[in-house]
Amino acid sequence: MGLTQESIPLKNLINLAGKGAIVTGGAMGIGLAISYRLAEAGARVLIADINASEAQKASAKLKYYGYSAQFLKCDVTQEEDVKNMVTDAVSKLGSIDILVNNAGVYPRKPLDEMTGEDFERVILVNLMGTFLCSRYTIRDMIEKRQGGCIINIASIEAVHPSSTGMSAYDASKGGVLMLTKSMARELGPHSIRVNAIAPGSIKTQGILSHMGGAQEKSQLKELKSFISRIALGRMGDADDIARVALFLASDLAGYITGDLIVVDGGYLVS
Ligand SMILES: NC(=O)c1ccc[n+]([C@@H]2O[C@H](COP(=O)([O-])OP(=O)(O)OC[C@H]3O[C@@H](n4cnc5c(N)ncnc54)[C@H](O)[C@@H]3O)[C@@H](O)[C@H]2O)c1
Repeated sequence: MGLTQESIPLKNLINLAGKGAIVTGGAMGIGLAISYRLAEAGARVLIADINASEAQKASAKLKYYGYSAQFLKCDVTQEEDVKNMVTDAVSKLGSIDILVNNAGVYPRKPLDEMTGEDFERVILVNLMGTFLCSRYTIRDMIEKRQGGCIINIASIEAVHPSSTGMSAYDASKGGVLMLTKSMARELGPHSIRVNAIAPGSIKTQGILSHMGGAQEKSQLKELKSFISRIALGRMGDADDIARVALFLASDLAGYITGDLIVVDGGYLVS
């Protein structure tokens, strides 16, 4: 009998040794948690973030644990920054096997107060940034003919608007979802898998300031009502998302592409 799937040890399926990974917005929150898990699984990680000082601290933290990490200042909305990021990643990591498009912003503004500029900024970071980073990264993946994996961090807002003032964000994440599916179709023949994760409410610095630290009575009420709809009864941790990203990046998910994994503690089913 030949080699069967069962004969591949689990630890090999999840091992990312020899792989290079870029995580955008990896300086904090979900991006940092993903960087940590990918590095723990053996990947060489490049944290690309607009906030250079936080990115430096994040990469130092990973190195402290004995993992391979580098950082780079990059604004994902700037095409030149993205080109530099890819060049830098190829020289520092050897190859780019995994790209996590995580950088994102979620400002809240009622529709009738939102300017075209406000709307455009959100689309530029969340959607255009995902496109630009993918577009320049796939060159290396295609040339090296070793396949690859792209993980786009979308949101449950991509499929269900859960609060007001989020129209630009919801449109951007809906776009990320369809971009994911479209890229998966186009890149499948190159063995590049493209998937998205839809986090629910995850405790990060970003979400806490988005909720104004929940200091205002109305915000606290809204937060409580949101949490009451989560089947598992709690907000998620950044690592809840990172574990799923690790799964998607690994060979455990070798036959999954064009999919969206909802990681929301059961919010959407409540
Ligand atoms: N936290 C949540 O509840 C939640 C829910 C659903 C989806 N998400 C998505 O997850 C991702 C991460 O969210 P988070 O809560 O960790 O956010 P965060 O604000 O804590 O961290 C975001 C990171 O992205 C970086 N960044 C912002 N703009 C950038 C740009 N133009 N170029 C490069 N880097 C940039 C920031 O410097 C920061 O390090 C985002 O795409 C967000 O939309 C978060």
